[in-house]
Amino acid sequence: MAMNAHHDLFDEARARDIIAGLAGLEGAALPMLHALQEAFGYVDRRAIPLIADVLNISKAEAHGVVSFYHDFRDAPPGRHVLKLCRAEACQARGVEALAQRLEAKHGCVAGETGLTGALTVENVYCLGNCALAPAALFDGEPVGRLDAARVDAIVATCGSAPK
Ligand code: FES
Repeated sequence: MAMNAHHDLFDEARARDIIAGLAGLEGAALPMLHALQEAFGYVDRRAIPLIADVLNISKAEAHGVVSFYHDFRDAPPGRHVLKLCRAEACQARGVEALAQRLEAKHGCVAGETGLTGALTVENVYCLGNCALAPAALFDGEPVGRLDAARVDAIVATCGSAPK
């Protein structure tokens, strides 16, 4: 997914359309947030009051839904997304050291877009790929048996030289 992090991706008219289209659903807040993230790559905070309006709930309530679920990004992702499993089996196989390497060597902090927009690292909790721990999803593709060399190779794929 090619995206420029410096460009404002939010389109209020489009967000309003998406929200209005789902307004009839029961428990519409969640499907709305998923649809917005699907459309824009993240949930812009400017969409929150629009949702609150349509559902006749307070902004605080709408915001509460966003922060309760960890699936929603509040900023556009990088061109590549690495979802790194931080659950038990992957912890036992050393994912922590890999996360530290991503941070210290490559400047990729989980939850932030590093490498000037090239790579977003996100934490996830069990990908069902424990047999190949430490496991991750890179741009939606499962990768297993991660080690320092593989992590470095993934970062290199993203097109920015390590620091
Ligand atoms: S604990 Fe990491 S894939 Fe299951």
